[in-house]
Amino acid sequence: MGIVRVLAAGVCLLSSLLFSIEAAAVNASAPLTYGIVLFRMFDVLDVFGPTEVLQFVSSSFKTDIVYIAETLDPVTTRPTLAAMNPLNSSAYPSLTPTHTFTTAPELDVLILAGGPGWRNPALNATLDYIRTTAPKAKQVITICTGSALAARAGIMAGRKATTNKSSWPNAVTAGPNTTWVPSARWVEDYSSEPPVWSSSGVTAGIDLMLHWVEQTYNKENATNIAKFMEHVRIRDPTYDPFARNETVVA
Ligand SMILES: *[C@@H]1O[C@H](CO)[C@@H](O)[C@H](O)[C@H]1NC(C)=O
Ligand SMILES: *[C@@H]1O[C@H](CO)[C@@H](O)[C@H](O)[C@H]1NC(C)=O
Ligand SMILES: *[C@@H]1O[C@H](CO)[C@@H](O)[C@H](O)[C@H]1NC(C)=O
Ligand SMILES: *[C@@H]1O[C@H](CO)[C@@H](O)[C@H](O)[C@H]1NC(C)=O
Ligand SMILES: *[C@@H]1O[C@H](CO)[C@@H](O)[C@H](O)[C@H]1NC(C)=O
Ligand SMILES: *[C@@H]1O[C@H](CO)[C@@H](O)[C@H](O)[C@H]1NC(C)=O
Ligand SMILES: *[C@@H]1O[C@H](CO)[C@@H](O)[C@H](O)[C@H]1NC(C)=O
Repeated sequence: MGIVRVLAAGVCLLSSLLFSIEAAAVNASAPLTYGIVLFRMFDVLDVFGPTEVLQFVSSSFKTDIVYIAETLDPVTTRPTLAAMNPLNSSAYPSLTPTHTFTTAPELDVLILAGGPGWRNPALNATLDYIRTTAPKAKQVITICTGSALAARAGIMAGRKATTNKSSWPNAVTAGPNTTWVPSARWVEDYSSEPPVWSSSGVTAGIDLMLHWVEQTYNKENATNIAKFMEHVRIRDPTYDPFARNETVVA
């Protein structure tokens, strides 16, 4: 236990040092534009978890969030397959995008949510947008199976990443040459520009975002936002109660 803790602390210290070098690339006092990509059957909390955190940030630092999709039609979380909604429940909201792939502004941070829709074969326009936008962003953040969507878009080659542990067998086959980390609340990859941070399933995205707030803005903001949300944070990126046991390079 003692040794494990010390090792974990060492890894964390190293990653914070690495990050403080990279963090200089993002001017915390400058306005930041975050873009969240929407697609049919996105996961609701993958989008609104980060949105919630960023809304709190926005009262202290100018923060813009744009919601981007192929058209301006509302995008629903409702399953396309009847088998995924056998009782035809109306439990699925829609979100109206603010921009299309062609009207979206330049982004500082590209956020890719997950959800069952990441596997939709008809996502070419979405994948094209991700492929062309990611290299121009200062940071890419994926939540849950958003990392599998990113892999499909081809932006995860040579990267290490994590994903939704319940979707693990499918997600890890999504793209070429990604090292999938089986035990991580979130993973930070700095191997090339821009850095890519990927979280584990759904609520792990909130822990990733609070860590992002701490690194990009300040620690007090992250602590206070977690308190306002009454969210019990996992602060150690290596702690994963939903861990898988095999690293996959695929
Ligand atoms: C950071 O952004 C603020 C506001 O846009 C600007 O006033 C300041 O000069 C910038 N600092 C650096 C180091 O770029
Ligand atoms: C499912 O519910 C929608 C309304 O939400 C309705 O239009 C549709 O006909 C229903 N489908 C079935 C198979 O019951
Ligand atoms: C996580 O994976 C499980 C199992 O495949 C799936 O039911 C769930 O919808 C996934 N969550 C997201 C947000 O993709
Ligand atoms: C989508 O892209 C794939 C791979 O590039 C291609 O094979 C397929 O024909 C495209 N589909 C459409 C509808 O353009
Ligand atoms: C796969 O990625 C690693 C870095 O993680 C790189 O060293 C290697 O050359 C890549 N292999 C291929 C076939 O792209
Ligand atoms: C966030 O940080 C700013 C700058 O230090 C501070 O003015 C503000 O009160 C903080 N907000 C919260 C919610 O902690
Ligand atoms: C990994 O987990 C599976 C089932 O969850 C188990 O069968 C297997 O033995 C485990 N492998 C290792 C190396 O622990």
